[in-house]
Amino acid sequence: MSKLFSPVTFRGMTLKNRVVVAPMCQYSARHGFADDWHLVHLGRFALGGFSLVIAEATAVTPEGRITYADLGLWDDAQIEPLRRIVRFLHRHGAAAGIQLAHAGRKASAPVPWRGAFTETEEEKQALAFEAWTPVAPSAERHMASYAMPEALDEAGMARILSGWVAATRRAEAAGFDMIELHSAHGYLLNQFLSPIANKRTDQYGGSRENRMRWPLAVARAVREAWPEGKPAFARISVTDWIEGGVTVEDSVAYAKELKTIGYDLIHCSSSGFDGAKIPLGPLYQVPLAEAVRKSAGVPVAAVGLITKPHEAEEILKAERADLVALARQALDDPNWPLHALRDLVGGDTYAAWPDQAGYAIRNKDRALGIFR
Ligand SMILES: Cc1cc2nc3c(=O)[nH]c(=O)nc-3n(C[C@H](O)[C@H](O)[C@H](O)COP(=O)(O)O)c2cc1C
Repeated sequence: MSKLFSPVTFRGMTLKNRVVVAPMCQYSARHGFADDWHLVHLGRFALGGFSLVIAEATAVTPEGRITYADLGLWDDAQIEPLRRIVRFLHRHGAAAGIQLAHAGRKASAPVPWRGAFTETEEEKQALAFEAWTPVAPSAERHMASYAMPEALDEAGMARILSGWVAATRRAEAAGFDMIELHSAHGYLLNQFLSPIANKRTDQYGGSRENRMRWPLAVARAVREAWPEGKPAFARISVTDWIEGGVTVEDSVAYAKELKTIGYDLIHCSSSGFDGAKIPLGPLYQVPLAEAVRKSAGVPVAAVGLITKPHEAEEILKAERADLVALARQALDDPNWPLHALRDLVGGDTYAAWPDQAGYAIRNKDRALGIFR
């Protein structure tokens, strides 16, 4: 019996298997609107057999975008193109998730494959280029190459919290089955959580309890705005991998609070601040997921350099995680779950492919002697 290909339910969302697509920014939107690129990018993972496709970090306010080309949900007009994507994912057997985000001081950055603001005037017009002053818990920049942020006052924090709530309602209107609170990777909520970025002296800075105060207020407001019958996940950086930064112990405490508020799963990533010493390698973040699962008693997703079907199967069988999430490996092979099904389960797995492809691939594999 494959655990990877066994179903699992979170509130009203039943997933047909346990391999999900992690959110991946495409930096391909104009004014925050999804378009054909996002439909094809996300849609191919539904065709490839992933049970849950999580759309990229989607900004809850315009200044919360990492780049001018991020998706957004700060405007009702942004709902419809996302609804089209949700319909496609559902039609092809995948649940639809969306990650709601605010980049804080890491906003207004260049599109990563450009490395700097290299856009010509013509490209700026075509791409709807924008640059702005980011906001953050404290007026400290992420790195020398980043803009200096303005420190948020309570009015600014209240405005962003309302943006989070409104975006949550819009995600519901678009038909998503799940929302993921982006609280990882050195973005705004993570900036409040981590002493690396949070230098505040008010009730939102200093002790762990104070640093968690605003992220938990956001988490609570989002959970309350999201239908009771639908699951909410939270993505966290379990460790900053920096001396003096967030530790596994801090994250276990945070995960316990999130669980109490009504979060159904913690998606366990790591890092996001300059100077992190990350022990990169296959499955390098799985021990973090396992620690949160065991110590906080909450379901978790493991992510990070999980590439091989038998490794994913082992993570689940050993109860180190409840879901496995793939990002780059999914880009490399959007049909990864279908290939894994053939490798791990075997037999006539071709019915799991879209009708348009399954019979033809069965014939190919028969001709090659892979399937008899
Ligand atoms: C192109 C790209 C875009 C990403 N965008 C996001 C994002 O929007 N939100 C997020 O939480 N993580 C994002 N990530 C991180 C991935 O979700 C994932 O955690 C990371 O790549 C490690 O998993 P992998 O080794 O399977 O790629 C992104 C990663 C890539 C490669």
